[in-house]
Amino acid sequence: MYIENFKLIKYRNYDYIDENFSKNFNILIGLNAQGKTNLLEAIYYLSTGKSYRPVRDNDLIKWNSNFFNINGIFCNCIGKIQLEIIYKNTDIVNKEVRINGIKKNKISELLGNFTSVLFAPEDLYIIKGSPADRRRLLDNDIAQVSPVYFIKMQKYNRILNQRNSLLRKICKNRGSIDELEIWNQQFIELSKDIIQRRLKVLEKLVPLTRLMQRKLTNGEENLEIKYLFSKKEEIKSNNDIDELLNAEYENLRKEEIIRGITLFGPHRDDYSILLNGMNLKSFGSQGQHRTAVLAIKLAELEFFKAETGEYPVLLLDDVLSELDKNRREHLIQTIKNKEIQCFITTTENLTVELDNSSAKRFNINQGKLIEM
Ligand SMILES: Nc1ncnc2c1ncn2[C@@H]1O[C@H](COP(=O)(O)OP(=O)(O)OP(=O)(O)O)[C@@H](O)[C@H]1O
Ligand SMILES: [Mg+2]
Repeated sequence: MYIENFKLIKYRNYDYIDENFSKNFNILIGLNAQGKTNLLEAIYYLSTGKSYRPVRDNDLIKWNSNFFNINGIFCNCIGKIQLEIIYKNTDIVNKEVRINGIKKNKISELLGNFTSVLFAPEDLYIIKGSPADRRRLLDNDIAQVSPVYFIKMQKYNRILNQRNSLLRKICKNRGSIDELEIWNQQFIELSKDIIQRRLKVLEKLVPLTRLMQRKLTNGEENLEIKYLFSKKEEIKSNNDIDELLNAEYENLRKEEIIRGITLFGPHRDDYSILLNGMNLKSFGSQGQHRTAVLAIKLAELEFFKAETGEYPVLLLDDVLSELDKNRREHLIQTIKNKEIQCFITTTENLTVELDNSSAKRFNINQGKLIEM
């Protein structure tokens, strides 16, 4: 799938752009703070209905304006589709999704229409960051190919909030344990469903990641990702999740009531990332972290293709300059061979060999795009 036309109005430092992109490489060249990342952020927004950065929609509106609009025309194997987001902060705040001009009731209806894989500097937090960083990055990606997962996560967060508020009440002797038992059933049921969905994704993603890492390192490095229940116990199979969740409930019951907060469930799980059997976070070099994230992203290209029938659009923010020559060429070759549409940001003209028939180059200067 590829973006044919893209319009932005009043988004971040963009006043108005209307651009036709190459269906292969689009190189976005500009000095610092000109709008390269903002453009990738806007493209990504159309695949998930939100920014990949932890910001509020209001912050995305161009200063001194009260709305933004993102509009893309995408080509896939079936035909063309137009996706549009209109966000207004006028008398009332209003966010609207339109697909082929028709207003949709829910933002989640956007999911699955256009998929993208983004590799930005913050993605290194998959390795270096907290469990919450790892969960957020993988959750965002799973949601793109599984809108149901997104809806389940929303429901889970609602129930979690209610369970937490009940625990706080019980902690202050104002709530009933019987009520907790009722919530608990629903909570465990949904927790199990979410963990099962995550395991299913890992089952497909891990072998692909292993393969990509071996390709990137000439077979020298073996990358493994494991699901850690409650940040400690590895789970592989679906069978024992019920038991684990119930056991954890019993173990933590007293502490949950004393602290007035939920201490188990998918919002407390983690992923461990191992390189040649060692914890990558503790032992890997900078380059190994970067390569591992790249392997995960390349694996996602294949995973998305298998799930949706189309390659996603690849967004590479500030990535190429940090990779060594071999890894950079491998990446470019992979994209070329698979005919994936790719957006690459850089502060200088890329030295990578790209023939002009497959690449368009744009200069970005203070929120204006000029094709070179
Ligand atoms: N809501 C907004 N309205 C107007 N300008 C904004 C808004 N949000 C961010 N900006 C500005 O957008 C500019 C460009 O940001 P962006 O992150 O896209 O730069 P960049 O080209 O990726 O730079 P770098 O090479 O440093 O990564 C920044 O100077 C920032 O102040
Ligand atoms: Mg940037």
